Amino acid sequence: MANVIEQIHKDHVNLARLLILVDAEIDKARQNGMPDFLMLEHVMRYMINYLDQVHHNKEDAMFRRVVSLDPQAKSAVDDLTLEHEKLKSTGCELYDLVCAAQNSDFVRREDVISQGSDYVATLRAHMDKEEGDLLKRANRLLTEQDLREVDAEVESIHDPLFGDTVEKEYQSLYAYIMAQQDSVAEASQD
Ligand SMILES: [Fe+2]
Ligand SMILES: [Fe+2]
Repeated sequence: MANVIEQIHKDHVNLARLLILVDAEIDKARQNGMPDFLMLEHVMRYMINYLDQVHHNKEDAMFRRVVSLDPQAKSAVDDLTLEHEKLKSTGCELYDLVCAAQNSDFVRREDVISQGSDYVATLRAHMDKEEGDLLKRANRLLTEQDLREVDAEVESIHDPLFGDTVEKEYQSLYAYIMAQQDSVAEASQD
């Protein structure tokens, strides 16, 4: 079983794949096309249910442990913790917006573009900072025992999209991700 640092890194890889999908839909909106709001709704639901509730809570616990061993990391950790809060609120706002669009309520195209692109840019920059600094510090400083304790501090909820089994509400999103992956593989063989 992956330790908590390995799991966080794996989540980042998966999240980056989802952000590519969100980016492509925001691009459609920019070009006056119709984004796939149902797919965006599924992605943002995953962000609320897994990114905010599990991934960020595990990171918060791990970062606290890093600061206890390396106080110089405090300012970087404070910034990342604030970003977790910001991503939670902006993620909920974006979820509400795409749900409204999916329900045929009036939403402004500019809001979809600005809120969607802000969310993608913020989460990408956030993960880059974690990969470039905090995960390396954690790898250097935390023992296997620390990692087990950090993991136990936050309830581990099964990843409903990229875990061993895909939950029903995410099956169409999972099928879409797999189809995208296949088309990229085919294109690279041509
Ligand atoms: Fe984070
Ligand atoms: Fe993260």
